[in-house]
Amino acid sequence: MTGSFITFEGIDGSGTTTQARRMFDALVKAAVPVHVTQEPSGGPVGSIIRQIIQRRIVTLGRTGSRRPSWDTMGLLFAADRLDHLECEIEPNLQDGINVISDRYLHSSIVYQSVTSAQDGAREWLALINGHARTPDLVLQLDVQPEEAHRRRMERQTMVEMYDDPELQEKLSRGYKELFESLDGVNVARIDGSLTEDEVHAACMDQLRELGLP
Ligand code: TYD
Repeated sequence: MTGSFITFEGIDGSGTTTQARRMFDALVKAAVPVHVTQEPSGGPVGSIIRQIIQRRIVTLGRTGSRRPSWDTMGLLFAADRLDHLECEIEPNLQDGINVISDRYLHSSIVYQSVTSAQDGAREWLALINGHARTPDLVLQLDVQPEEAHRRRMERQTMVEMYDDPELQEKLSRGYKELFESLDGVNVARIDGSLTEDEVHAACMDQLRELGLP
């Protein structure tokens, strides 16, 4: 039997990394086969993306250094995703191992469309990600942008590409709109402002509906 594919989504500081790891630990403890991963992935394209996000690679435009545009980022994330699926996600699922990913497809749809000023961005992003399998369960951690900002300030050593508070507000609205309009995707919205233990318990409740652990 193939494994289940579970993804965590939310704005920066919503707790996706912590909760993905906690779910992984809980499944290991319950002797359920599981693999945890993240996007950007550890593969070649993912490494480039990380360097861009951390501003360690900049491109030079006519007026000085600039960030790659939303569509360039969209293509990089989509390429990383296909590589990630091929090398890591699909082989584990085929072996019956459940896979948890800290961010996946819906990060691209939300982050890259919100940072574009173009009509039709969301449709184009869906198109270039058309070969990416749909997760069995998407856990959206919903945290107020102010709370997420406070958490980022507590932990952060380096300001990253999408760290602007105004942008994070737009991303929060972007997630809400996306998940309200999506058909055929199993999404659970979790109140991410609860304590870490409560959020973890709510995520595990959703997992049980998939028949796990
Ligand atoms: P990372 O440092 O891993 O952030 P976090 O730990 O909060 O997930 O960097 C990932 C950043 O990249 C994060 O700001 C979300 C963004 N992102 C996209 O813009 N598009 C995508 O497709 C993915 C996977 C991430």
